[in-house]
Amino acid sequence: MALTANAEALLRVSEVTKTFGGVAAVDGVSFSVRPGESVGLVGPNGAGKTTLFNCVCGQLRPERGTIELNGRSLNGMATFERARLGIGRTYQRVEVFSDMNVRDHLIVSVRARWRQGRLWRDLCNLSKPTADERERVDAVLDLVGLSDRADTSVSALGLGSCRLVELARALIAEPVLLMADEPSSGLDVHETRELGAVLRQVQRDQGMAMILVEHDLEMVAEVVDRTVVMNLGQVVAEGHFDTVMADPIVRSAYLGLHE
Ligand SMILES: Nc1ncnc2c1ncn2[C@@H]1O[C@H](COP(=O)(O)OP(=O)(O)O)[C@@H](O)[C@H]1O
Ligand SMILES: [Mg+2]
Repeated sequence: MALTANAEALLRVSEVTKTFGGVAAVDGVSFSVRPGESVGLVGPNGAGKTTLFNCVCGQLRPERGTIELNGRSLNGMATFERARLGIGRTYQRVEVFSDMNVRDHLIVSVRARWRQGRLWRDLCNLSKPTADERERVDAVLDLVGLSDRADTSVSALGLGSCRLVELARALIAEPVLLMADEPSSGLDVHETRELGAVLRQVQRDQGMAMILVEHDLEMVAEVVDRTVVMNLGQVVAEGHFDTVMADPIVRSAYLGLHE
């Protein structure tokens, strides 16, 4: 059975270590994600979640270990090459094209993805979208529930809607693995619930795999199939959300939950 499980991995992280100034932020971490699987990565501040996330996306280079997507090593590969292979990520802020309306913002993203090199021309003079571009963007807007805000300027949106735009931007590229680091940070309870519901819906509809780094445990419980708990750079528990959270050691020592 182990062999079958190995063969099925979409993402495989093996013995990854990343140090800062001699201190291991990520210390020999191994885990894998199957195609279409949604995995939550939780743990206290400083556990190494963002560092691990950045090692997978390519913003950081680990000193040791391997990261593979569909059996292909990503070691040494630039972020944009990983994106082309299907690793998509969300950023916390929509920064670059914020004076555009939501639809145009996403059309630029479509063009950046599918027609490399035209990005700056498109920014200076956004030519009329083709029917194909418009269809693709409107489908994604519908998916994340932003159709009614398509003509609104991104800069006029609240933070919750900006996160949805950010999610839409990542989805335009049709990732096989979507990675989101603390997508609920700064959102109120209502916005967090809305984002969680959209994430769950999108992940199920699209059948893509997802890694969700998130401190909001209700969102994790709602969105993920499996939870990985990190502390001090290491994986300390892994399994179904309810099982992992029922572990008293995880609850008190690693998540600071006290009944
Ligand atoms: N760029 C950096 N330079 C130095 N230390 C860092 C850097 N990034 C993270 N760290 C350290 O690595 C550890 C893990 O941080 P991080 O991955 O951000 O944890 P988390 O996302 O789980 O809160 C922390 O001790 C943090 O201070
Ligand atoms: Mg973090």
